[in-house]
Amino acid sequence: MDVFEAVRGRLEVREYSGERVPDDVKLRVLEAGRQSPTGLNTQHWRFILVEDRERVKRLAEMSKTGKWVAGADFAIIVLADPKYPFYLIDTGRAVQNMQLTAWNYGVGSCIYTGYDEDGMRRFFKIPGNLEITAVLGFGYPKRRLKGKKSRKPLTEIAFSEYYGNRLRDLGTLE
Ligand SMILES: Cc1cc2nc3c(=O)[nH]c(=O)nc-3n(C[C@H](O)[C@H](O)[C@H](O)COP(=O)(O)O)c2cc1C
Repeated sequence: MDVFEAVRGRLEVREYSGERVPDDVKLRVLEAGRQSPTGLNTQHWRFILVEDRERVKRLAEMSKTGKWVAGADFAIIVLADPKYPFYLIDTGRAVQNMQLTAWNYGVGSCIYTGYDEDGMRRFFKIPGNLEITAVLGFGYPKRRLKGKKSRKPLTEIAFSEYYGNRLRDLGTLE
């Protein structure tokens, strides 16, 4: 899959078919996280693979904004050490790499960030020095994905040479 087309085409998927995702895809998704770059190569992120149905359901119960994870085939809890000022950039890069890798194998995913942190900490035995930065749910999409991303035009968010200066004409994309 072309990387640009994957970036452009991937949508967040919150409804899943129930079909099991094979281990080799799960392994590639985690490996994509591991291969991600970190500031000073600190590699402080940690990933918890949650596959057990009851545990996936508990994840959903402990969230207000990620209830949909109950239907996911598996989830990954993304942890990071907040002592590094760039820790959120590091986890963002790992998250995106994992989601794009899943997409490459036809597996949809979505992220959520609203959860009962204390509850999750106890239930998943998360050490105090690590912050829960995101949870990802994964699974084959329930239905064929259609739809267009809602994004601002490039000329509204990118500038040429200095802030506020209109982006020069770079042509158009198909
Ligand atoms: C940092 C971050 C936090 C997010 N938190 C949630 C969340 O708590 N629950 C949820 O359902 N979606 C969450 N999302 C998903 C966004 O709503 C989604 O990425 C955005 O609407 C674009 O979706 P699209 O790429 O399918 O167009 C989050 C996304 C990001 C990047």
